[in-house]
Amino acid sequence: MAKALPKPKCKKCEEKCGKGKTSPEVLAQLEAGYEKLVDSDSPSMLKRFLTKEIFDKLKYKKTSFGSTLLDCIQSGLENLDSGIGVYAADPECYQVFSPLFDPIIEEYHHVKATDKQPASDWGNAATFGNLDPKGEFVISTRVRCCRTIKGYPFNPCMTEENYKDIESQMQAALKDLPGDLAGTYNPLTGMSKEVQQKLIDDHYLFKEGDRFLQSANACRFWPTGRGIFFNQAKTFLMWICEEDHLRIMCMQPGGNVGETFKRLIAAVAEVQKKVTFVTSERFGFLTFCPTNLGTTIRASVHIKVPKLSRDMDKFKELAGKFNLQIRGTGGEHSDSPDGVYDLSNKRRLGLTEYQCLKEMYEGITEIIKAEKGAK
Ligand code: ADP
Ligand code: ARG
Repeated sequence: MAKALPKPKCKKCEEKCGKGKTSPEVLAQLEAGYEKLVDSDSPSMLKRFLTKEIFDKLKYKKTSFGSTLLDCIQSGLENLDSGIGVYAADPECYQVFSPLFDPIIEEYHHVKATDKQPASDWGNAATFGNLDPKGEFVISTRVRCCRTIKGYPFNPCMTEENYKDIESQMQAALKDLPGDLAGTYNPLTGMSKEVQQKLIDDHYLFKEGDRFLQSANACRFWPTGRGIFFNQAKTFLMWICEEDHLRIMCMQPGGNVGETFKRLIAAVAEVQKKVTFVTSERFGFLTFCPTNLGTTIRASVHIKVPKLSRDMDKFKELAGKFNLQIRGTGGEHSDSPDGVYDLSNKRRLGLTEYQCLKEMYEGITEIIKAEKGAK
């Protein structure tokens, strides 16, 4: 099923690929961007970890795909409000630009660069129950993971043909799923704006025009190859060719983590029968963004915490104590005006799938206790 790694043919890579050093144009852009970053008050990890010494060492390097340091940091240079600011333009970047990626990965996931990812272990989903049986706090639960399909690079090096190939490969793979996983694939190409917006508003579909992804060169040929699969009940969904080749997710109303996770385990097992994914000893499942490496699991709840969220600094501190990340209910980089937040496990590398769920489950249990006890 997996094809030989295609030679990057996109316009961008044709310009930069091949032998030799980083071109003078790219070097000039790097220097100008770096100067701006240094002078800024950007909160990004890129700003903290790209020291002058590391910058000078990495600015001449290229991967065999032709990716440069600029390809990895352009998003953080253009979006100074980034939290992280880097993406691996191709899988080799994690190695070639490791003096920048390693400290970011170490801090984000609480691992050491010498650590290896533990073997996949999804554990027993039935050990998780319902976080909120009375339905007072948790509106909905979602668990997602990301996958890179063997034989294709990451977005910035993908050709239009690659997008079409992945889409048709996945369309075939998702055709005859068993039981309640069965559903339909809906390509973005040809989808009406109304249908697309409704899917986004209902929290099923990725947004369009993410500026962080756009400046990372991850949205070329849009909407070619992009789409969403879902079962009838929209409790099992898959995004094709957004940030990663695949985002596989299960979601449902309420706080039943066990049920949601169990369905995801079954869904991933089915997909795995048909498609081969890229893994690494050190990073587990490979992803475009270093925050998603490892298990790639983000288990989240949309939860009402009007009292705790009155003091956001304190709320962030409490969430941080349980390694939970706070997002708005419109997804990453969104606001939450009504006291409802998206809380999820932050770490995904250096622990198993089961441990990711456990971290989220135990953390949310404590958050609910704190919300109940808050004045
Ligand atoms: P990802 O989770 O794939 O990293 P986002 O943070 O952008 O990406 O979220 C994608 C979509 O999933 C958003 O519309 C978001 O509101 C929705 N979502 C995330 N968690 C939940 C949840 N627990 N319940 C309902 N929708 C959710
Ligand atoms: N690049 C963005 C930032 O640094 C997002 C990072 C994590 N999220 C993601 N979808 N990969 O803020």
